[in-house]
Amino acid sequence: MKFKALLFALLISFFTTFQSSADEGMWIPMLLEQLNEKEMRDMGMRLTARDIYDINNSSLKDAILLFGGGCTAEIISAEGLILTNHHCGYREIQSHSTIQNDYLRDGFWAQNHNEELPSANLSVSRLVRMEEVTAKMLAGIKPEMTEKVRDSVLKINRKSIEAAASKENTYEAKVRDFYYGNEFYLFVTEVFKDVRLVGAPPSSIGKFGGDTDNWMWPRHTGDFSLFRIYVDKDNKPAAFSKENIPYKPLYTIPISLKGVKENDFTFIFGFPGRTQEYLPSDAIEMITEVQNPIRIELRRQKLDIYESFMSQDQKIRIQYSAKDAGLSNGWKKWIGESKGIAKLDGIEKKQDYEQAFQKWVSSNTTTQNQYGGLIDDFDKTFKTLSGYQQQLIFVTEAGLGIEIVKAARTLSKLEEISRNKDVLEDDVKKEIAKAKSSLSQFYKDYYLPLDKKIFVKMLESYRSGLDKSQLPEVFAMIEKDYKGNIQAYADVVFGKSMFSDSTQVMAFLQSYKPSQHKKISNDPAFILASELSDHYLKNINPRVNVLEARVDSMMRLYMKAQMEMQPEKRFYPDANSTLRVAYGKVKPYYPKDAVFYEFQTTLEGIIEKDDPAVYDYVVDERLKKLYASKDYGKYGQNGTMPVCFIGTNHTTGGNSGSPALNADGQLIGLNFDRCWEGTMSDLMYDPDQCRNIMLDVRYFLFIVDKFAGAHHLIDEMVLVE
Ligand code: ARG
Ligand code: GLU
Repeated sequence: MKFKALLFALLISFFTTFQSSADEGMWIPMLLEQLNEKEMRDMGMRLTARDIYDINNSSLKDAILLFGGGCTAEIISAEGLILTNHHCGYREIQSHSTIQNDYLRDGFWAQNHNEELPSANLSVSRLVRMEEVTAKMLAGIKPEMTEKVRDSVLKINRKSIEAAASKENTYEAKVRDFYYGNEFYLFVTEVFKDVRLVGAPPSSIGKFGGDTDNWMWPRHTGDFSLFRIYVDKDNKPAAFSKENIPYKPLYTIPISLKGVKENDFTFIFGFPGRTQEYLPSDAIEMITEVQNPIRIELRRQKLDIYESFMSQDQKIRIQYSAKDAGLSNGWKKWIGESKGIAKLDGIEKKQDYEQAFQKWVSSNTTTQNQYGGLIDDFDKTFKTLSGYQQQLIFVTEAGLGIEIVKAARTLSKLEEISRNKDVLEDDVKKEIAKAKSSLSQFYKDYYLPLDKKIFVKMLESYRSGLDKSQLPEVFAMIEKDYKGNIQAYADVVFGKSMFSDSTQVMAFLQSYKPSQHKKISNDPAFILASELSDHYLKNINPRVNVLEARVDSMMRLYMKAQMEMQPEKRFYPDANSTLRVAYGKVKPYYPKDAVFYEFQTTLEGIIEKDDPAVYDYVVDERLKKLYASKDYGKYGQNGTMPVCFIGTNHTTGGNSGSPALNADGQLIGLNFDRCWEGTMSDLMYDPDQCRNIMLDVRYFLFIVDKFAGAHHLIDEMVLVE
């Protein structure tokens, strides 16, 4: 007996080492009162949980918006002015840019409402309320059900819950899975569809440091842009119309001029996209030692080719800047993530945890029966999945990711329906219109010589990266017809394909008849595209899907088991693009032996980095003048201008543009990145190394006021001195 008690005590102490630190976690706003309020107040917060999230009164949450598909924005004026990152508004700013009016390069400031630029494809949404619906979702679910039957019951329940919730009004309603399908929450949202660009700094400020500094500290990026929400005369969301008026929000976030000190309490309120904190060691190994290295290598090859073209021509730079930023962002993040896990001994830590888990499982027959085989099953499943993941990365990054292949695929549907003799004329017309619109966008930013280089490089890497038996058929044809010479194959594809020439494709579509479908299916780029997508659909996708479904159901069980094993631990659900609160403190860190990073950067650092010869480090002349005259107004501090700061808030992609708030809920910064050493926090959080990077709100105000002279915008905001 004594021995058993001792063993138990040992087990408990072992688990407590897996308790997360106070800084870790992305918490559900609705549950703050229950789970976090006390800790937040102990850490210095002066608000209550209800000031942050309340459905009976307006609260901070009413000012937080999901921006586009994957960023956050917040309302900072009573006239619907919203703030987000420059990199979140990037596509909108780019889409309004031309060589003559290059808003990316020069910035953009609407002088009045009439000059604000509508952004056709942009919408933002506000959470109206959320509600736990686990019991309703699980109604009718029985333990002995197969996964398939279970899924179909869930689907029916989901539909009826969503339908009931959206019936009440014009809101949208969605049920989302939490804790790998152990819990469910309903989200009711209001979607605004008329959102207009109001202001953006020049890239030399908004993207200062560019991809060189991306994911890194010390950082000096003025990463912000401004938009405005427009609504109908009843203050309700509406499609774009000239008659629309600025939105009158339920809540406007006041802006603090007080700045930050080390150890100040901060919180981030936004829409983190995806984390995977509860995976087994096999998954961490697959991600950081198999998937990341391949992705990193392929992206590096593409980026080198981009760089060689973009550095030579301003037009190509505009065309490829957003694509380049996207590729580079993933590339660098994956490097940091793999390094971070290795440095943290992340795989070993998870293995130790699994051993303890196994002990707990075998300590009693119920748990043994329920969870006995789990860890072994993970092992087997991830071994197989890992191989397919490699193939998946090659076919998507190195095959389907080639631009001319993408262009060809826009006609897949048209080709397919045209083969049917009874095809309806209307359907053909619709498909033509769709293809024309996406192709015209595509060609606006397409440069063929660049794509041809990528084409050759990617197919070469594809061929050398996998076993012959895992390659799509096209490689056998290249062997046979071109003696394995991919360049020769590229010459033929680019020489003969109609997709090499935008005027030719557009003219073809203009006069298209279904009887001409062979002209599409015989096109060499189209043939390649079809072979790649067939290979993907037949040989890779079905197997990956089966394996991932198996992992999903194992994870549901594993998550449940982990929560049972540590009943005292507060578990936060993995990020899933729903609204969350992360809190922590302003803190410096030691990234490596003998190196210490301060928590704040200043304008002095921008001047230090200034280098007219390096694109990412060109400093605007006007900014230099402001620096020389130290004209910082009320925004400066101790004779300088603060630019960015870091904290221990647990954030991820999607948190970009999220407000950083102080103990009183006032805006002190704008989240836009994480420090490189801590990018493994999507898999494992380390309080010593994980820091989120925020723009100091005073630098934002300084740029709007002193640099751009947009006083009318400052006048709209609520500044707290
Ligand atoms: N790393 C940040 C994020 O994940 C910023 C990305 C945009 N900036 C860039 N230089 N590519 O979104
Ligand atoms: N830049 C990221 C975003 O766009 C935030 C950085 C991160 O992943 O934490 O959401």
